[in-house]
Amino acid sequence: MILYSIYVVDDEEAIRKGVILSMGKDYQIKAFPTAETAIETIEKDPPDLVLLDIGLPGMSGIDALKEIKTRYPDILVIMITAFEDVKSVISAMKLGAYDYVVKPIQMNAFEVSIRNALETIRLRKEVQSLQEKYLKENLPCFIGESNAIQDVMDFVDNVARSPDTPVLILGETGTGKELIASAIHYKSPNFRGPFVTLNCAAIPKELIESELFGYEKGAFSGAAASGKKGLIEQAAGGTLFLDEVGDLSIEAQAKLLRFLEDGEYYKVGGSKKLSIRTRVVSATNKDLEGMIEEELFRRDLYFRIAVIKVEVPSLNERRDDIIPIARHFLVEFNQKYCKSFIRLSPQAEDALKNYHWKGNVRELRNLVERGVLTGKEPELTLHDLGIQPVSKSSPFNSRSTIRNRQSEMPFHPIPSAGVDLPALHESLDKYYFREALKIAKGNDTKAAQLVNMNYYNFRYRRKKLQIR
Ligand SMILES: Nc1ncnc2c1ncn2[C@@H]1O[C@H](COP(=O)(O)OP(=O)(O)OP(=O)(O)O)[C@@H](O)[C@H]1O
Ligand SMILES: [Mg+2]
Repeated sequence: MILYSIYVVDDEEAIRKGVILSMGKDYQIKAFPTAETAIETIEKDPPDLVLLDIGLPGMSGIDALKEIKTRYPDILVIMITAFEDVKSVISAMKLGAYDYVVKPIQMNAFEVSIRNALETIRLRKEVQSLQEKYLKENLPCFIGESNAIQDVMDFVDNVARSPDTPVLILGETGTGKELIASAIHYKSPNFRGPFVTLNCAAIPKELIESELFGYEKGAFSGAAASGKKGLIEQAAGGTLFLDEVGDLSIEAQAKLLRFLEDGEYYKVGGSKKLSIRTRVVSATNKDLEGMIEEELFRRDLYFRIAVIKVEVPSLNERRDDIIPIARHFLVEFNQKYCKSFIRLSPQAEDALKNYHWKGNVRELRNLVERGVLTGKEPELTLHDLGIQPVSKSSPFNSRSTIRNRQSEMPFHPIPSAGVDLPALHESLDKYYFREALKIAKGNDTKAAQLVNMNYYNFRYRRKKLQIR
């Protein structure tokens, strides 16, 4: 049984006592002689329902109602009023009071009004919990078993909890940045709010302002007669996802910055300052820090959007994820194309594990989709995937010059005690990372190029190796 909490705010002791006496055994009731004391307690422990006298000493019931409804719109309020006070009753109802009762109070009628209010609250809670359950069950599936991606997802869980913090997601194309952006939204306290995406690369720079901020009617020729809501307004109370943020023009960056600084903006053609709250999540596969050096991205905007950075490792860096993700896509495309593949052949799995992924998870998804469409059930083979067997498709093949150099290195036979390859690997990495950073004078982009690595993989590995 849900135990509801009710506050009764009335300067008449008889009324406070009457409510406690008649309903104290069914509900959790707290009584207050003034609005000020009640509001102070609401801050610490918000109730479900407030029974609020209009004529109070100090802060009036109407002012208290305004305050409660602004700060805690979910709390229901029943006004208690003297018979002659019709004007106040009307304004209370306009301000969002749920109901009113007239003094002298008829306890029966009062109880009916309270029970109706509590039933409304019960239904509202039920809808919310069903909504929550539905969203959780229908959340896009993010597959990842590698330590690298588990670290990222743990971090995402933490970040999601603070609903106002801007997050920047970095990673190569196809690593799942958009999926992570939606995970941040659906794991945040604002998950019931909207998730609105602006693809910064897809929108012409002349339109970005009206898309983001909306416009007033008649703002420009060709504007819709009724004006238009901008994406920022649509994202109120939820998340605004700025995808491909590295593609924003310098002009658009300036406009966005103004909004990010204080949450305030004007519609195109509007003179009223508007303000909303939404969490901004951005993503890019570009090297924003490098772009700042080249004056292609504003440093001040970067600091606004990158309060928290999430770096998504490439698929080549988390090979343990390849097969679980491939199997997940096999199930997905079986359903989509009414097929019944039951597994990937062992050679196909081997080849996938050793493939050099340039398009990351998206490329893997496309390969499996193609295989499911064209292959023959029940087993998805190497041939269906259209990739080379392991020996020919080794990632090192494309790096022929480096490979040649490696084969010239003085490797030793394995001693009888064996060899600690992971430790050797780590010290080799550390050595070359430090050397590369020395030559590149600390510039990650250049150092990454020197060791033939992608910038994000380099940054990720550097952090893992704790190289300052
Ligand atoms: N870990 C994962 N589990 C399941 N599906 C994934 C995973 N990562 C990515 N995907 C899928 O791979 C595809 C590419 O992911 P997404 O669009 O999020 O990549 P992206 O990083 O935003 O790429 P781009 O930089 O090109 O925009 C999508 O279909 C997405 O659902
Ligand atoms: Mg994307």
